[in-house]
Amino acid sequence: MNNSDKKPPADKTNQAWGGRFNEPVDTFVARFTASVGFDHRLAQQDIQGSLAHAKMLNSTGVLTAEELELINSGLQQIAAEIEAGNFNWSIALEDVHMNIEAALTERIGIVGKKLHTGRSRNDQVATDIRLWLRDQIDAIKPMFSKLQEGMIALAAAEADTIMPGFTHLQTAQPVTFGHHLLAWNEMLERDYGRLLDCRARLNQSPLGAAALAGTTYPINREFTASELGFTKPTENSLDSVSDRDFAIEFCAFASILMTHMSRMSEELVLWTSAQFQFVNLPDRFCTGSSIMPQKKNPDVPELVRGKTGRVNGYLIALLTLMKSQPLAYNKDNQEDKEPLFDTVDTVSDCLRAFGDMIPAIETNKASMYEAARRGFSTATDLADYLVGKGIAFRDSHEIVGKSVAYGIAENKDLSQMGLEELQQFSELITEDVFDVLTLEGSVAARNHIGGTAPDQVRAAADRALQQVRSRS
Ligand code: ARG
Repeated sequence: MNNSDKKPPADKTNQAWGGRFNEPVDTFVARFTASVGFDHRLAQQDIQGSLAHAKMLNSTGVLTAEELELINSGLQQIAAEIEAGNFNWSIALEDVHMNIEAALTERIGIVGKKLHTGRSRNDQVATDIRLWLRDQIDAIKPMFSKLQEGMIALAAAEADTIMPGFTHLQTAQPVTFGHHLLAWNEMLERDYGRLLDCRARLNQSPLGAAALAGTTYPINREFTASELGFTKPTENSLDSVSDRDFAIEFCAFASILMTHMSRMSEELVLWTSAQFQFVNLPDRFCTGSSIMPQKKNPDVPELVRGKTGRVNGYLIALLTLMKSQPLAYNKDNQEDKEPLFDTVDTVSDCLRAFGDMIPAIETNKASMYEAARRGFSTATDLADYLVGKGIAFRDSHEIVGKSVAYGIAENKDLSQMGLEELQQFSELITEDVFDVLTLEGSVAARNHIGGTAPDQVRAAADRALQQVRSRS
């Protein structure tokens, strides 16, 4: 019995690669190896890549004008069907690429089979993910700008709002709430830069790398690169089909961004508590408790903080996916998609939630001010004052330390002590001390670039807004 006797009917083996197979793929294995359940999200980019590839094949004489026309109209029909949700995805056809190719052949006949000339699913999928991620990055960019503009506007409005600044979560020195918000904005500004870096590096065309070594057909890689808006073709065919570092880079960006938003969330959760009462989040960003009628929970920041876990996990998943792969393409890479998709979805949702919520923060100025008055937040100002009167800083530190100990014993803040009380610690203290012991005096004195003085905060908010608005 020769091999052809054992061969199952042609419709039982995979149309795209069944030629050398003697039995159909096991049903479980077909399901196990299929990716169409998730990679159908790449459909529009897959068609975009195919249209560019076909156009290029026509320009080099591989496809006739009639063939190109057939392929174009077939693919456009399929794109419309997918868009409308009328496309029938088949697990037997494994992935998005083969589903679309089979549908094309079904519609336009034999010409559909010519589309794959000079191409492999390996360079095809590498192209699709880059195109997809580029589209997602372009959708994320305005969400960033919206969030930052809202944050900066709030910072400008709160430039005079005094609150305690913390180190070790202990009251340290007074700052303004506007200054605190601009610290958050700096984190986001660097994240935005990382996003742009990622976009610039991924924006090269792997198309033409074929399976791994390139192709013998006359192709024009510059043509497809420019057709798809890539800056240039990738340099090396092996690398092109293999590395997913661009996806890892996006996840690294996403992890850092989520870590930043998680820190902001943590502060919002603390500040909305009855113990702080610094800010209020409008009800639409909160939920209640089914058992405790008094509760209003800051769910949005809590969830953003929680979702940081999954995004960090995806970064590790992709690094681990890549770490032991020999060149070039390996099926492992099919596992790149779900982590990347969910990272994009999560980051987009969190940016959207923050973009709506941050500008809606309501401040409780009186309780921020009260908190800054407690905890000896102007102790450093008193020390600096004594240095101004000629005392060495280490000595003045000691003197102020003693006055703080006295304040703790007497349950009085420095600003609540009378002149005579203060003079017990140094005779150099005179009436003008009260200018520096006030919270307003303390913040206004930090009057330099990057300092918390209200005028500096207003100027910094202006610069930050210019920066965001100058984005293309
Ligand atoms: N579904 C595959 C993936 O996501 C497409 C590439 C398959 N290539 C192959 N030689 N099996 O990576």
